[in-house]
Amino acid sequence: MNTDEKLLLRAIRKQAVERTPIWIMRQAGRYLPEYRALREKHDFLTVCKTPELAAEVTLQPVRRFGFDAAILFSDILVIPEALGQKLEFLEDHGPKLSPEMRSEQDIAQLNPAGISEKLRFVARALQLIRKELDEQTALIGFSGSPFTLASYMIEGKPTRHFKYIKSMIYNRPDLVHRLLEKLTAAVVEYVRMQIEAGAQVVQIFDTWGSILPLHLFEEFSGSYLNHIAAALHPLNVPVILFSMGGMDHLIQLADSPAQVLGIDWHTDLAQAKKLFGDEYALQGNLDPTVLYGDKAAIRREVQRILNVYGPESGHIFNLGHGILPDIPLENVQFLVDEVREQSAKWHQSK
Ligand code: CP3
Repeated sequence: MNTDEKLLLRAIRKQAVERTPIWIMRQAGRYLPEYRALREKHDFLTVCKTPELAAEVTLQPVRRFGFDAAILFSDILVIPEALGQKLEFLEDHGPKLSPEMRSEQDIAQLNPAGISEKLRFVARALQLIRKELDEQTALIGFSGSPFTLASYMIEGKPTRHFKYIKSMIYNRPDLVHRLLEKLTAAVVEYVRMQIEAGAQVVQIFDTWGSILPLHLFEEFSGSYLNHIAAALHPLNVPVILFSMGGMDHLIQLADSPAQVLGIDWHTDLAQAKKLFGDEYALQGNLDPTVLYGDKAAIRREVQRILNVYGPESGHIFNLGHGILPDIPLENVQFLVDEVREQSAKWHQSK
């Protein structure tokens, strides 16, 4: 077994692993007391934009739990800000982008050129993190998908019905595509910069592709995800596509040039394995609310997921969406220990 290469990368390439690698989405954040302590002194965007603070927060969960990957601490919405919108995080209301992108002129004014210059602080953070990480821990960069970014840019804030972007899809689909094209160019440039700065894997979060009816998913989200994965392909850095929305949406990504599919918690892992396990490595998919359960429930769910994937390499253990801010710390520790112990037994008993 070539243990020189990082466990996460070996799992992605389906090479021999001694256990299943684990990291969790939103692993840096409010459930950690050390994160809350740092946030008392600095607001969220200051943490994102100060490389030393972003690096520190990225490393906090890795130090505490020994995850097999660190994910850059930042936010998907730094791209809309770099394109010219004003970004704020309002206490208890989440992100706000203004002015909202609602007209042809709004979208014409966005300029994707030079985006990596404006987001240089992200490259600097990645360089600092790489220096601190040990040989075994992989560094993951990320971006939002064009469609997810477009929904925040058009709606301006979190929403239930996505009235404005959906209205635009049915009134001016050409405008939505113009925005998505600009965002795709920005995402490719931004992720390339992250890779040059040291990201060894990148994940594209397509959180809101799921609000599209299935027959529109390929046109407004899937095709742009595929374009991004294809543009990054020559760089030889694996791409994880994480799309919320279950099996039907996942099937639409089945021909993408990505290496890993992120499986959300709605989706049946057994079916995903059957359909996509030969072509892709799979990441997921513990329901995040299992971590509110007792130890027996956590153990049972870990066992179930490991059994469903089976003993081959190609699985990255993760939650099926981000960890919630009030999850008890000891349950996270228990989860990590269980995945390690149970999967190590598996791989040794082969
Ligand atoms: O995973 C990680 O640990 C890396 C950091 C990370 C954050 N946001 C930090 C964050 C990542 C990968 C994201 C991605 C992100 N941001 C997504 C896609 C992922 C997903 O969950 O589907 C989305 C939709 C956003 C936009 C966003 N950022 C919202 C809607 C909110 C408010 C909701 C909330 O949880 O408060 C944020 C804020 C945010 N991003 C926080 C963190 C740690 C909380 C800010 C705080 O400290 O108060």
